[in-house]
Amino acid sequence: MARMCGIVGYVGSQSALNVVVEGLARLEYRGYDSAGTAVAFDGKLSVTKRAGKLVNLRDALAGTQPPGGADDEAHGAHSGIGHTRWATHGPPNDRNAHPHVDCTGAVAVVHNGIIENFAALRLELERRGHELSSDTDTEAVAHLLEEEVAKGAGLADAMRKVCVRLEGAFTLVAIYSGEPDLVVGARRNSPLVVGVGDGENFLASDVAAFIAHTRDAIELGQDQIVELRPGGVTVTGFDGTPAEVKDYHVDWDVSAAEKGGHDYFMLKEIAEQPSAVADTLLGRIGADGRLSLDEMRLTDDELRDIDKIIIVACGTAYHAGMIAKYAIEHWTQLPCEIELASEFRYRDPILTRSTLVIAISQSGETMDTLMAVRHAREQRASVLGICNVNGSTIPRECDGVLYTHAGPEIAVASTKAFLTQLIAVYLIALYLAQVRGTKWGDEVFAMIQLLGTMPQKVEQVLETIEPVRELARSLAGERCVLFLGRHVGFPVALEGALKLKELAYMHAEGFAAGELKHGPIALIEEGLPVVVIVPSRARPILHDKIVSNIQEIRARGARTIVIAEDGDEAVAPYADTLIRVPAVPTLLQPLVATVPLQVFACELATAKGHDVDQPRNLAKSVTVE
Ligand code: AGP
Repeated sequence: MARMCGIVGYVGSQSALNVVVEGLARLEYRGYDSAGTAVAFDGKLSVTKRAGKLVNLRDALAGTQPPGGADDEAHGAHSGIGHTRWATHGPPNDRNAHPHVDCTGAVAVVHNGIIENFAALRLELERRGHELSSDTDTEAVAHLLEEEVAKGAGLADAMRKVCVRLEGAFTLVAIYSGEPDLVVGARRNSPLVVGVGDGENFLASDVAAFIAHTRDAIELGQDQIVELRPGGVTVTGFDGTPAEVKDYHVDWDVSAAEKGGHDYFMLKEIAEQPSAVADTLLGRIGADGRLSLDEMRLTDDELRDIDKIIIVACGTAYHAGMIAKYAIEHWTQLPCEIELASEFRYRDPILTRSTLVIAISQSGETMDTLMAVRHAREQRASVLGICNVNGSTIPRECDGVLYTHAGPEIAVASTKAFLTQLIAVYLIALYLAQVRGTKWGDEVFAMIQLLGTMPQKVEQVLETIEPVRELARSLAGERCVLFLGRHVGFPVALEGALKLKELAYMHAEGFAAGELKHGPIALIEEGLPVVVIVPSRARPILHDKIVSNIQEIRARGARTIVIAEDGDEAVAPYADTLIRVPAVPTLLQPLVATVPLQVFACELATAKGHDVDQPRNLAKSVTVE
């Protein structure tokens, strides 16, 4: 699961179904593709779940309530859990929707996050006779809880015993028909908050789900178990020791709660980038230490037969594709072309059975990219998708897909989807290198370890971002900003320019710094802001040339805004504004250099009074050619 599923738990005197379903409705903004509930009463559970929107679940709940029927009781139950699923493991359908139950139907669990070792756990369970029916990582937890309860443990102890066996990031919430006044939650690296009521208590993935009932909340800490009863809340560690918790009063309104306290979804999504990058990396190294990707339905032999790669995408996704080209060619020695999806099929591309087309799309519904995929398949090329929406059209028409785990991206301007697309293209390049033998296993593993440090590097950029906000506000009156970069910094320059165009409605242009002297330098005039992305000093051939470029434009009056790695003092004398980012290997620099440009564009557009989440003339998914 990605981090963005919606979770609600309730125990108290109200109808648990009503409270849970209304709570899920408050979480609808997060985006989801299926929903479900489970309530406990009279020694049994009533579980209802449907693919699609909440209305399908409501219809199912209403429809199963014949006058005086068993389900009347379900509506009278006083403890329950609910879930809106944003699919990553397994397509969105009724079977994969949460809650998931055990063999006996006595335990139900909902989950948010990714359980990295679920495949091994599932194998163990099936060997012990359990039958698991879904494609999800979550279902294994229901059966593990069943085993502990069968040994006589209460649900809370069962949860403690199970959680210590799980690897990855997870929020789990469960109920058990044998303890109808109890809801149990667990959290590791995934959000879970308690709502404290009077004779009733709530659990949720964010406070938006319960602030209509109570604003008194408890934030749970890492590796904690919470027991929710009508009369009170108990919090312990996974080892059972009582835990210190901090309670607080929620003073957000519902709208602010949906944005996690940020003014815009875009700001929330920029802030989510460290966890989105971490989630996209989770579970990518198999038990054998080899890289394992999602539904890669292309065999290793088919991948070894590839002699050319063409990447097709639009907008921000196209910029991710440009960066992919550098990584793929350097790590796999395969020729890699990058083409705007809307141009691809009109240029009569040379496609054979040995061509691999990689289609990058956050929404999975972009018509230009979908038509490029269809053209590639007609020409018998293999097609691999990189997508953020499980089960959307483009992945369904690809031979294989690697899902990014950014969670729903609500703002039109793409941010966290872009960073996770970069992670995805690095993973695919490494997978191809591994399969084709152009990189040894230990080299692939070392690069994966390096990628594992990137969430913290992105966090570091966000923690020191305030000067970028001040700079942006000071430039709100400007008519134009230019962006320069070299190597992978060139697509970053294009991305920074695109963000400014689509949010601040300003003229903004990205250039390859080497192109400056072939024309664009004529644009430079006194005071013109020019953002320059400086490559790592580890690549002097790139770094020294761009320092010269900065001198050239500064000599002609440009206002230089320089993004450079910590410790790079060579650029300081020529920078009117110096924005520092952590030093990372050249190929990975877009992961840290892009973030200041996202914030810069967002803040400048805000200063101009624009609606940052819904810029004029734009749609989140362009489903027309
Ligand atoms: C980027 O901020 C824009 N929202 C737009 O360029 C977007 O990246 C492009 O339309 C492609 O969308 P997709 O990734 O959903 O295919």
